[in-house]
Amino acid sequence: MTEFHHPATALIHGGIDRTPFGETSEAIFLTSGFVYDSAEQAEATFLGTASHYQYTRFGNPTITALERRLAILEGAEACRVTATGMAAVHGALLCQLKTGDRLVASRALFGSCHWIVSTLLPRYGIDIAFVDAADLEGWRRAFATPAAMVLLETPSNPMLDIVDLRAVSDLAHQAGALVVVDNVFATPLLQRPRDFGADIVVYSATKHIDGQGRVLGGAVLGAKQWVEEVLQPFLRNTGPALSPFNAWTLLKSLETLELRVRAACASAAILADTLALNPAVRRVWYPTRRDHPQQELAMRQMSAGGTLVTFEVHGGKEAAFRALNALRLVAISNNLGDARSLVTHPATTTHMRIGAEERARLGITDGTIRLSVGLEDVRDLQADLAQALAAASSTRAAA
Ligand SMILES: Cc1ncc(COP(=O)(O)O)c(C=O)c1O
Repeated sequence: MTEFHHPATALIHGGIDRTPFGETSEAIFLTSGFVYDSAEQAEATFLGTASHYQYTRFGNPTITALERRLAILEGAEACRVTATGMAAVHGALLCQLKTGDRLVASRALFGSCHWIVSTLLPRYGIDIAFVDAADLEGWRRAFATPAAMVLLETPSNPMLDIVDLRAVSDLAHQAGALVVVDNVFATPLLQRPRDFGADIVVYSATKHIDGQGRVLGGAVLGAKQWVEEVLQPFLRNTGPALSPFNAWTLLKSLETLELRVRAACASAAILADTLALNPAVRRVWYPTRRDHPQQELAMRQMSAGGTLVTFEVHGGKEAAFRALNALRLVAISNNLGDARSLVTHPATTTHMRIGAEERARLGITDGTIRLSVGLEDVRDLQADLAQALAAASSTRAAA
């Protein structure tokens, strides 16, 4: 696919396989099955000696176009898409792991990923070791014992911790582990984990890939042999297939991914600086800001800081709730990566179930707020955040 030298081009042209009608944009094959010209062709297809679509749970032309486009973008040999991001994470782990295996995981994981690692996998006799994202010594200790896989997220949700992808991948490989990276916050445009040694990359396509809050989706990318021989049989037989309609929606969204992500990143960097100057704000986390403890590492791995900004307000939960409730433009939602700016209070929503002790360990306080920056004019976002933070602190002063 040498004609795609730059991501913006691949995002528009990648993966298209036109029908004889010569349609300009991708067709939707909204069909559950496919017919055969003969019984012999059906037999040959099932034997694997003929190539033909069989059933949309196994594959579908619209879904294949999305998988091809994502693989080109990621620089990966192969991709399979799934109905949700969690189906992608769960499929990538469960297709590989077996009883007696050991999984090393970053402690800073999205809530449902944390549940899979801490609750589901141990039920099947898989040993788990958690490591703090930024603790290289901790990673080194964890990989002193052989492991089958490692799951990590960088930047992490919501504290934007950065994992050193090169160092952790090298340690993991010495311990015999495959490295799985949840790259949702960075997107394939800002960071390609496989360039730093990771083996498998997973996405919630629900986030920036759709980017307009319409459909759920997921993706797993890796080496062709692993995808075809290990992942594909698991997906084909367990059935977390993406709807062809959702695949078509995601293909359409990919055409604007670069424009959307770059615009939201530019606004996020401005808002991080604006928030840091607001007297109601105690602290701001943004990967490329000078006060981020891992700024240098973030800039080595990522081409921009991302579309999420995390900040802590003075006054804990009450002040955080007052600020959220005073917002007029930015909506309260646990989703992210949308064209609309969204704000969430992790301690009472996305990270409620992990408990206060684990939250404290991750640095999530009752005043922590996660802002997913959208595509509105940044001046309107600045004004909305300023008035909400002023309302929150003036109510506090009056109380
Ligand atoms: C980092 C991360 N990984 C995985 C997921 C799961 O994706 P989905 O909601 O599409 O299942 C999410 C969000 O929900 C997420 O933020």
